[in-house]
Parts: sequence; C-alpha cells; structure tokens
Amino acid sequence: MIKDYMRKDLLDFKPYHAPLMNYDIKLDANENPYAHSPYVLEKIKLWIDEEKDHLTRYPDTDVHELRQKLGTYHGVSENEIICTVGSDQLIELIIKVFVEPGDGVLVPNPSFSMYGLSTQLNHGKVINYELDDAFDYDYDLILKAYEDHKPKLIFICTPNNPTGNKASLEGMKRILDHVNCPVIIDEAYEEFDGDSMVPFIPNYNNLIVLKTFSKAYGIAGLRIGYGIASKEMIEVVNIAKPPYNLSAFSQAVATFILEDLDYYNDLIHKINNEKEHLYQFFLGRDCFERVYPSKANFILVKITDMNLITYLQSHNVLIRGFGDQGRLAYHMRVTIGTDDENSRLIALIKAYEA
Ligand SMILES: Cc1ncc(COP(=O)(O)O)c(C=O)c1O
Repeated sequence: MIKDYMRKDLLDFKPYHAPLMNYDIKLDANENPYAHSPYVLEKIKLWIDEEKDHLTRYPDTDVHELRQKLGTYHGVSENEIICTVGSDQLIELIIKVFVEPGDGVLVPNPSFSMYGLSTQLNHGKVINYELDDAFDYDYDLILKAYEDHKPKLIFICTPNNPTGNKASLEGMKRILDHVNCPVIIDEAYEEFDGDSMVPFIPNYNNLIVLKTFSKAYGIAGLRIGYGIASKEMIEVVNIAKPPYNLSAFSQAVATFILEDLDYYNDLIHKINNEKEHLYQFFLGRDCFERVYPSKANFILVKITDMNLITYLQSHNVLIRGFGDQGRLAYHMRVTIGTDDENSRLIALIKAYEA
C-alpha cells in the first residue's frame, strides 16, 4: 500500500480543494470578472506573434524586468522583491525557510486556509488566534499568543479573506514593534480598499508584505504573486525559490498590466461601486442574518437557511459557502461580479425570498 510509505501525520490531511463546476456566473473565488485592457490584449498578441525563442527557452529565473517595474511602482528596490507562482507559492517558501519541525505559526481564524495547510505540510504547528465577534483583529490577543507560544512566524491577512475587514496600521505596527519573528502581512486584496504596510518596510526588517496579480489585476489564471520585504529577508526567502518558477508568458503579461494601470484602477473603482450597491441590497434581506462591511472585492454574509446556496448553484451561480460547522457556519462569501452579473444575482435572491 502506497499509504504505508506516506508521512503518518498526513494520513488525515485535507488538501485545498476547489471543485470545477459548471456556471453562468462565477462569484466564488474573488477574481476580477472584467476583460483585460485593449493595450494589454494587443501586447499579448504581439508577444505571441513576435515569438522568437520565448517558448523554447527557459524564462528569466530572476524575473528582472517585472521586479524592476514593481520596484518603481512600489518605491522599493528590485532587491526587495521576490516573484512567485501566485502568492500561494510565496506562503509556502516563507514557511519552508523559517519553520522547523514542531515550530509554531500564528494564523488568524477565520482566514485564508493556505497559511495552515502549508504549515502542516512543512511540519509546523498551526496556532490559531481568533478574530473577535465582528471578525476584527484583537492585537492584545496576538501579542499574548506570541508570548505564550514564541512562534516562528505570524500571519495577518488584510483585508482578510473571507471576512472582508482590514487590520489597522497602528495594530500591525504594534505587533511589529513588539515581536522579533517574521510577520507576514497578506495584502492580496489591498488594492480594493486596504492600507498597505509597504511604506513601513524600511522600519521593520522582519516585515514581509504579500501581493498578487490574481485579484485586482485579473490574471489568476497566470499565477503571479510577489513579496516585498527588506533585502535581507528576500535573500533568505529566495533560498527556497525553485528555478524558473514564473513562466515567460506570466512575466510578460504582468509587466503589460503595470504599463496600463489606469485601466485597472478604473475597474477597481467600478468593482467598489458595485460592492456598495450589493451591500445596500443585502442589508435589507430576510435571508441574511448578518452582512459584513468589506474592504475587498467580496462580501461575507450570514444566511438564515443553507438552501440558498444550493438554490443559487441550481441556477448556475457559484458562491462560496462555508458549511454548517465552525466559526463560519451558515456564512457565504459572494465575489463582486460585473454589473450585469450582480443584477442577475439580485433578481435570483428576490425570487428566492418571494
Ligand atoms: C488572502 C489570500 N492570500 C493569497 C491568496 C492566493 O492568491 P494567489 O496564489 O492566486 O496569488 C488568496 C487567494 O484566494 C487569498 O485570498
């Protein structure tokens, strides 16, 4: 039996699972639903047409051009940036280089599941710290958990997935002022309405900010994430980076997007307006027990009846449900779609309630 050879601690491990389902409207993965800019589409065509050895040769393993452009955009040097296959890979690399078997990793609950899954896969010990009743961060609690467990890493996600609220800059600085271990601030949704910690990187050698092109910039399919931190920190994380991790095509498309940011900023603005519209609609509904304000491109709601999720799925609308157990029991997360998709969602919810 193959399982006899497997790591015993992984026998009951539940990997990240995102089933492929049919849909008309996809509101379950916090993607950007809009088309790419004409500029980016044209550049992609040219990239393919002009192909000399783009496809036959390995890509630039150090991702120079993209890192330079990101450096200019964020006001940091290229040496303070690492690019990875989605920010998922960066989470994994950070854990790999810092966590030894049994080391503790502080992870918010509820939050993005990959912090815990990667920690387990890399022999670390997940120590959850709970968000409060409104899913806000409790900084005293984080500091107490730090004192009690002396973890190797602390994760903070802001705006947090799936709750949509953000950590305060003061709160995060309090943590960074107090602790010595690396603190990872995951800003996957910061472009929507967050407060970035990037300007504070010169103040904190142990701060790592995680970013992604999967959400605001709409290339989840190309898998590009990146981290910004001190040069020393980036050098350490680079130790675990596989060579040629980012495909030539991914590197190229991300640079095209950075050349046309006005277009994407307009989309972010549009998504935020749509979010406000959906939020106001959700507030008055009988089928929602609680609606959480959101700084990201999704809204979390507590539903009164689990049938709503199957009803939406039966109409080919995918949303993310969290089951009926744990802190997110009876909650569902709705990604902000296009205006047309949101109108169709609103019509379906009205029909469900009727
Ligand atoms: C908070 C958070 N961080 C990181 C990721 C991973 O994003 P990616 O690997 O696509 O960059 C996600 C994806 O949903 C997320 O919600």
